[in-house]
Amino acid sequence: MLLFADTADTKILAELLETGLIDGVTTNPTLIAKSGRNILEVIKEICGMCDGPISAEVAATDAATMIKEGEKLAKIASNVVIKVPLTIDGLKATKEFSAQGLMTNVTLCFSATQALLAAKAGATYISPFVGRLDDQGADGMQLIHDIRAVYDNYDFDTEILAASLRNNTHVAQAAIAGADCATLPPQTFRDMFKHPLTDKGLETFLSDWKSTGQSIL
Ligand code: E4P
Repeated sequence: MLLFADTADTKILAELLETGLIDGVTTNPTLIAKSGRNILEVIKEICGMCDGPISAEVAATDAATMIKEGEKLAKIASNVVIKVPLTIDGLKATKEFSAQGLMTNVTLCFSATQALLAAKAGATYISPFVGRLDDQGADGMQLIHDIRAVYDNYDFDTEILAASLRNNTHVAQAAIAGADCATLPPQTFRDMFKHPLTDKGLETFLSDWKSTGQSIL
């Protein structure tokens, strides 16, 4: 499963990229607003930091303007993925981007039928929002299973990019459900490395090793 960083904060991104385990980046208008920076500048900087897919979201709601915005975003770098909302206009724009050979990430997906439409429109990635469904009392992870089944039934190439993941359990369950990629808030990515038994076990190993008086180097 590819792991993407869900952030527009380039300082934090630099720290995460040092692990060598981040395959791409996703942003959205909220994350751009939080960064306090111009979208074109920040996406350009991120594309220079990471060779993988970098999602940059359009802000228009009509297809014609979405297409203009997407074409401008795609000109920033060859690894830009145009992120569009899952609306009728968003999917019209997705079809056009697909015809132009541009990558797309269809976002704000909350149902298997929406995901089916996005795949038919030629989306490169579909972003089902797990956490926001859970917030409503629905089973967000079931959506990942459902989309996996639908895409496998019909051999769609659209990749499932599990989004709105809030914790380690979400990441593990998305991987078990067969999501192709997961986008993670920085803290969720950091939490993936941690387990209390790892810390406890290492403490014991280090103390026992010290008692041997040995040195490997
Ligand atoms: C990523 O593409 C999404 O914008 C993001 O995962 C949404 O996460 P949130 O529901 O925690 O805001």
